[in-house]
Amino acid sequence: MIALRHVSCASLLLVGGLAVPVLAQQSQESCVTCHGSFSDARLGGPVRAYTEDVHAAKGFGCVACHGGDALDLGMTAMDPAKGYVGVPGREELLLVCGRCHSSAGFMRRYNPALRVDQVAEYRTSVHGELLLERGDERVATCVDCHPAHAVKPPSEPTSSVHPLNVAETCGRCHADRDYMQSYAISTDQHDKYLLSIHWEKLSVEGDLGAPTCNDCHGNHGASPPGVTWVGNVCGQCHSVMAELFNKSRHSQVFAMLGNPGCATCHGNHEIKPAGDEMLGIGEGSVCGMCHAPTDAGGMAAAEMRSLVDSLKFAHAVADSLLSKAENAGMEVSQAQFELSGATTALINARTGVHSFAVDHVREAVDEGVEVALSAQARGRSALGDLRFRRLGLAVSVGIILILIAGLVFKIRQLEPAKARQT
Ligand code: HEC
Ligand code: HEC
Ligand code: HEC
Ligand code: HEC
Ligand code: HEC
Ligand code: HEC
Ligand code: HEC
Ligand code: HEC
Ligand code: HEC
Repeated sequence: MIALRHVSCASLLLVGGLAVPVLAQQSQESCVTCHGSFSDARLGGPVRAYTEDVHAAKGFGCVACHGGDALDLGMTAMDPAKGYVGVPGREELLLVCGRCHSSAGFMRRYNPALRVDQVAEYRTSVHGELLLERGDERVATCVDCHPAHAVKPPSEPTSSVHPLNVAETCGRCHADRDYMQSYAISTDQHDKYLLSIHWEKLSVEGDLGAPTCNDCHGNHGASPPGVTWVGNVCGQCHSVMAELFNKSRHSQVFAMLGNPGCATCHGNHEIKPAGDEMLGIGEGSVCGMCHAPTDAGGMAAAEMRSLVDSLKFAHAVADSLLSKAENAGMEVSQAQFELSGATTALINARTGVHSFAVDHVREAVDEGVEVALSAQARGRSALGDLRFRRLGLAVSVGIILILIAGLVFKIRQLEPAKARQT
């Protein structure tokens, strides 16, 4: 690294016609010396914030983004003739950040695993298209999601793009009604997302496998998932449901009708835990939104629901019998363990609903009911044994009581005789 000290100014790359040094340098820059002496947020703030920036940690100085002469202690350090670009404009950022981040050869020297498609992806996003094609500067650019002087990797808990902070970062604009006033989209995504099972898993249980905004919209290609690929977005994680859904009749007709796949039934931002009440054609069912009780889909829905209910009932009965036996001190742990097979079958049946084919659900249900019935039998037999043992106990207690009574009677008989003798 020492060898690079003064190379920084010699190693130049053309950015929009401007020469800007690219290599990291170690020495204190004149920029830092001078700007560090300002107490205000605009001129001095960047120096104080920058101490925690990932670029500072890698040895980059102010000139990496602003250009200029880091060895010149006077105001002439900021001479455009010395490559100084000033504060980069919104569009210019793509060049400033992309100069390094779009160059696989350059990034490989620091972190070969880091993607180099951020700018390319950004260009295809709604944000990028509006900025580049319409000059709309209200959309998100690199520094709205990665604050210019406090850029941190997503793995750092204080990073603006750490999974726990992303919703807040996007919400700063998307939940701000005034800011988003001139656009036709709603501003409820952030608030609704905070009510979802996904956010609960992420924020309460710390399950980093649960999605936040960028898991569904892409890190840099943010666009509304098109109707046809919502399933793929959810399918990144819920792969079995997505596979079944894609093979189902719904997959084709939903695409034709413009229904957004999984989101048709589950919503997108406020996704709640799913329950059996969603299935069937009764109140609260999602099938009833489109099917009548008498059409093929409606009848299938009702049948699936009654299948799932039958397994749930068989499971509940077995569970209650086994708990009763266990509380009475009977050994039923093996049967309880085996009953977990019915729990798995119940999960499979609920997953199988996404085939929207009754037979698929029936298969899982039949398997589960068999397990549950066998567990019920084990529970009944344990309780039968218990009754038998209790009867045995009652009989032996009875015999003992009779013997005691006999003994007492005998003693009483002997006592008056003893009294007469004295
Ligand atoms: C001798 C002190 C000094 C040095 C050295 C210095 N600056 Fe500045 N810089 C200033 C002052 C003062 C301003 C405010 C000028 C103004 O508001 O017109 C400023 C403004 C800036 C701005 C904001 C410009 C704007 O339009 O808002 C940037 C960015 C900047 N400097 C970067 C740098 C970089 C990068 C270096 C090193 C290559 C550097 N400065 C070196 C004193 C200095
Ligand atoms: C990773 C790129 C990057 C680095 C490194 C960087 N800056 Fe900046 N700086 C920016 C960007 C981008 C902006 C515009 C911020 C915005 O639009 O929110 C900016 C803005 C500024 C401004 C103007 C602030 C304002 O509110 O108008 C100053 C002053 C400044 N930087 C100084 C520095 C100094 C001093 C350093 C070194 C300690 C530095 N910058 C390092 C990217 C960088
Ligand atoms: C001079 C080259 C250079 C410039 C200019 C630059 N970066 Fe970086 N950036 C790097 C390097 C090198 C790393 C460290 C990569 C590593 O080791 O993981 C990095 C790291 C990052 C990271 C963290 C990546 C991670 O997961 O570790 C983010 C986010 C980032 N930069 C965003 C930006 C943004 C936004 C801009 C423009 C405002 C910018 N960078 C400008 C070179 C640069
Ligand atoms: C709309 C918000 C947003 C914008 C705009 C944005 N980023 Fe990101 N960026 C993110 C998020 C979120 C992550 C975290 C991804 C993750 O968790 O892996 C990220 C991660 C990164 C990383 C780490 C490596 C990676 O790809 O995961 C780099 C580097 C980066 N961004 C650079 C940039 C650059 C350069 C720009 C401008 C072209 C930019 N970002 C614009 C949100 C944004
Ligand atoms: C600086 C403000 C800002 C930030 C931060 C921001 N956005 Fe945006 N976003 C906008 C604006 C403005 C639009 C344009 C609205 C439109 O499409 O009509 C937009 C558009 C979108 C769209 C397209 C909506 C549509 O149907 O047209 C999506 C999706 C989106 N943003 C997701 C995100 C995500 C995810 C994040 C965080 C990772 C984020 N945005 C961060 C301002 C922002
Ligand atoms: C579980 C996946 C998922 C998560 C997490 C998610 N979204 Fe979405 N988002 C979607 C889907 C799917 C659509 C499109 C729905 C449609 O086409 O009906 C969408 C649509 C949007 C739109 C377009 C306007 C609208 O409301 O239809 C914006 C903007 C948006 N999301 C922003 C966000 C922000 C900001 C976050 C984080 C707070 C977020 N999303 C989290 C899946 C998700
Ligand atoms: C036509 C409506 C519909 C569509 C489309 C749909 N689902 Fe479901 N989903 C349901 C119903 C109904 C349930 C509840 C089943 C039950 O509990 O009996 C459910 C349950 C779930 C569950 C919870 C399963 C469990 O173990 O409790 C997840 C996860 C899920 N769906 C994800 C998805 C995904 C991912 C997609 C898209 C690939 C999708 N769903 C498409 C109706 C739908
Ligand atoms: C990044 C991974 C990921 C993505 C993308 C994702 N989910 Fe989830 N989802 C999870 C995790 C983790 C849970 C909580 C654990 C569980 O119950 O499976 C969950 C839970 C759920 C539940 C509740 C399950 C239950 O037990 O009742 C439903 C319904 C659901 N997701 C639907 C969706 C839909 C619809 C989409 C797309 C719009 C989606 N998910 C996108 C990971 C993801
Ligand atoms: C957004 C509307 C919509 C929802 C919600 C919906 N369906 Fe459908 N479903 C359709 C359409 C449209 C068809 C195709 C009918 C056709 O082929 O004529 C269909 C077809 C079916 C079929 C195939 C019927 C046949 O003719 O073979 C079954 C089974 C089915 N749906 C079950 C369900 C179940 C179960 C649910 C609830 C979990 C559900 N549907 C929810 C719209 C919907």
